[in-house]
Amino acid sequence: MTDVPTRTQQPVPMLDFSRQFATLRQEILDSIEAVCTSQHFILGPQVTSFELAAATACAAPHAIGCASGTDAIWLALAAANIGLGDAVITTPFSFFATVSAILRCGATPLLADIDPATFNLSAPAVEKVLHSPAGSNVKAILPVHLYGQCADWDAFTALKQHHNLVLIEDAAQAFGATWNNIPAGALGDAAAFSFYPTKNLSAMGDAGLVTTTSAAIDDHARVLRAHGMRRRYYHDEIGWNSRLDSIQAAVLEVKLRYLPKWNQQRRDHAARYDQLFHAAKLTASSVTEGIVLPITDPRAGHVFHQYVIRVPRRDALRQHLADQKIGSEIYYPLPLHLQTSLTTLGYKQGDFPISEAAAHEVLALPMYPELREDEQQTVVDAIATFYA
Ligand SMILES: Cc1ncc(COP(=O)(O)O)c(C=O)c1O
Repeated sequence: MTDVPTRTQQPVPMLDFSRQFATLRQEILDSIEAVCTSQHFILGPQVTSFELAAATACAAPHAIGCASGTDAIWLALAAANIGLGDAVITTPFSFFATVSAILRCGATPLLADIDPATFNLSAPAVEKVLHSPAGSNVKAILPVHLYGQCADWDAFTALKQHHNLVLIEDAAQAFGATWNNIPAGALGDAAAFSFYPTKNLSAMGDAGLVTTTSAAIDDHARVLRAHGMRRRYYHDEIGWNSRLDSIQAAVLEVKLRYLPKWNQQRRDHAARYDQLFHAAKLTASSVTEGIVLPITDPRAGHVFHQYVIRVPRRDALRQHLADQKIGSEIYYPLPLHLQTSLTTLGYKQGDFPISEAAAHEVLALPMYPELREDEQQTVVDAIATFYA
């Protein structure tokens, strides 16, 4: 009699940084060593060199490194002269920083609901806000390219032209994404990127970047990230310390070279998840009937920063996966209009029903370039067992 090997299921982490580091170890250590040798730690030559490389990658004329994605949103808004008395329309279905950065520059956030297919800010919902009494103070729209898919830039460009608005991209999750083949970062008047370690282009600490098509925004953002100084110790306006450090820039420049390959691997993994779910006959067009797979607008070049499905009984499924050591995440469990710290915005439960439904149904599955096929199969098998 032959022994049948018993298959012990390996954990499938949501993200495993060590796999990427193993492939780049020497290159990254060399780049950090070069900064140590130069002893130029803040806004050094590596920052300038990364800014040029990032601007080229985004097809944007200007790129300004800064301390985080949160700061990048603030810098982009403030550099576009948005402040006290101005309103900015954005989505309630995003990371907190999207709204807190608007508050930090002194402006008022106005929220509009999302598109149910893409989870991105809905242009028709924004238009309604523009026509409401509060709409008269709106100076900018801040769509988020959520999960790595650009928001409907055709529609937002039409609104910009019709209402004479500034368009700022929250591209924190979307380095390398495109809309009609134009890269995120070159779509709006300015864009904000995050290089937080979980992002598709990630630093080894906090870091961020503003890109812009405007020479005036570029100049203003550079002044604002360094305490409003043009001349050392002469402060023309109130800026902040949001300088990018050279070690992060050096690491980012190494990783940027690999990003097109990594983004393609993410797209391949997304296509494989789609196939596996179809093969398991788990998919449906509505969450009451089964799993709704991610929907990509044909004009969008998605980079699948996250692969997010909508599922019935989401929290029980998540527990089932956790019991089998399979990682998953919820981006985001509580929409921003229902956050305790934002009650002063004056919104209430029921104001944004599409965002509220999404917050109960979305589940992000393991997704990173080094994810293996057998791990994806394990994830889908475990989900199939749950719904069996
Ligand atoms: C959509 C979005 N906006 C802004 C941010 C803020 O970026 P950071 O964490 O680098 O400050 C993030 C990242 O967490 C994000 O996902």
